[in-house]
Amino acid sequence: MSKSPKHFLDINELPLSELKRMLAASSAMKAKQKAHQPVRPLEGKTLAMIFERPSTRTRVSFDVAMRQLGGEPIMLTGAEMQLGRGETIADTARVLSRYVDAIMIRILNHEALLELAAYATVPVINGLTRRSHPCQVMADLMTYEEHRGPIEGKTVAWTGDDNNVLASWAHAAERFKFQLNVATPPELAPKKVMRDWIKATNAPIVLGTDPEAAVKGADCVVTDTWVSMGDKEGEHRHNVLKPYQVNGKLMSLAKPDALFMHCLPAHRGEEVTDEVIDGPQSVVFDEAENRLHAQKGILAWCFDAVK
Ligand code: CP
Ligand code: NVA
Repeated sequence: MSKSPKHFLDINELPLSELKRMLAASSAMKAKQKAHQPVRPLEGKTLAMIFERPSTRTRVSFDVAMRQLGGEPIMLTGAEMQLGRGETIADTARVLSRYVDAIMIRILNHEALLELAAYATVPVINGLTRRSHPCQVMADLMTYEEHRGPIEGKTVAWTGDDNNVLASWAHAAERFKFQLNVATPPELAPKKVMRDWIKATNAPIVLGTDPEAAVKGADCVVTDTWVSMGDKEGEHRHNVLKPYQVNGKLMSLAKPDALFMHCLPAHRGEEVTDEVIDGPQSVVFDEAENRLHAQKGILAWCFDAVK
C-alpha cells in the first residue's frame, strides 16, 4: 500500500517536533541561499498552485521557493480550470495527482481544502482559507525567533477581528506554548468552535475585548486587515474595529522591545498607523521575506526532503 501524502493543512494538526523540523529546515535553507550555496532537493518535482483568490506574497514566494529548490511551479486559477465550470474538487484532486507532485491551494471554503486533501494522492498545502492561514504563521514564528529567540513562554497580543490569521496564531500558541492575548469587538470575537477548541486543548489563549489589556506587557503585537477576503459589511466592520487600531499609543503599552507584526497587505491608517508599521519595532517586511524561506521548509517536509 502506498504511503499517505504529507499534507500541510493546519498548524495544530502536526506535532511540535515536525513543526520545529520544518522551521529548522527553513532557517538552514535561508542561510545557504544567503551564502550563495542554494540547495536543490526538489529537482524534477512539480507543484500545482491553485488560486481562487488574489495573492502577492503566497503566489510569488511559493513560485520562487519551488524554482530555488530545483522544482517547477505551475500557476493555475480556479476560473481558468474546469473547477470554475463545476468539475468537482474530488475529481480535480484525482486528476492533478496524476500530473504533479504536490498541490498548494488558496480557496475560501475550508471544507473544499479538506476534500482536496482527502482525494489527492500527493501532498496538499493550505495557502489560505477563510478558516486559517498556516503558511503565514510559520513565517511569523520564524521571524519572531530570528529577532528574539524561542517564542515559548512569550506573550503575543492580537488586536482586531477574528479571522484566518488569528486562527493560525491560536494553533501556534497551543503547539509552541506561548500566551496569546486576543482583543476583538464582542460581535467579531472567535466563534464557538474556536472557543470550544481552546477549552478542550487548554491552549494558553486569553480572549477579551480590550486592546489595551491585551497589549500590556506583550512581546509581540499582531494585527491584520479589518476586511478579509470574502467579508461583507466593510463599513460596519471599520466602525466597530476603530478602537482596535495599532497606533503609537497602543504600541507603547507593550514591552519596550516588543515586535510589531502584520501579514500584509496592510491598510495604513486603518488597522495600523504609518508610525507603527514604518517604525523601529515593525518586522513586517522580514515576515514577508520569510514567507519564501518558511515555504521552503514546508515544501521540503511535504516532499520528505527534510534531513
Ligand atoms: N500575507 C499573504 O498571504 O499575502 P498575499 O495575500 O499577498 O499572498
Ligand atoms: N485575513 C486576510 C489575510 C490576507 C493575507 C484575508 O483573509 O484577506
